[in-house]
Amino acid sequence: MPKVVYIEHSGAVREVDAPLGRNLMQVALDNGVDGILGDCGGSCSCATCHGYVDPEWLGKLPPQTETETFMLEGVPDPQPGSRLCCQLRMQAEMDGITIRLPAEQV
Ligand code: FES
Repeated sequence: MPKVVYIEHSGAVREVDAPLGRNLMQVALDNGVDGILGDCGGSCSCATCHGYVDPEWLGKLPPQTETETFMLEGVPDPQPGSRLCCQLRMQAEMDGITIRLPAEQV
């Protein structure tokens, strides 16, 4: 099964299984990863699933929707790799994707 590597704000590295088609907010919650809240349940309306995707993976992800871009404008520390994990569904080509989690969701 494909894997996702989450790097918690504490520096702890969590490598977990990610079923194809499952969004990466839900994968984090399924595995008790610290730093993803997912308050809106994945409807792109809370931005508490913010993460920083490593640059090498950005080209393999679907483009942001207008709603995701709007929501990311409100996070405390946006960076070039900022994405909302609920908007990223696991695909085979994303196996090994690395996402760092921000301080605001600890
Ligand atoms: Fe709310 Fe992703 S879980 S925007």
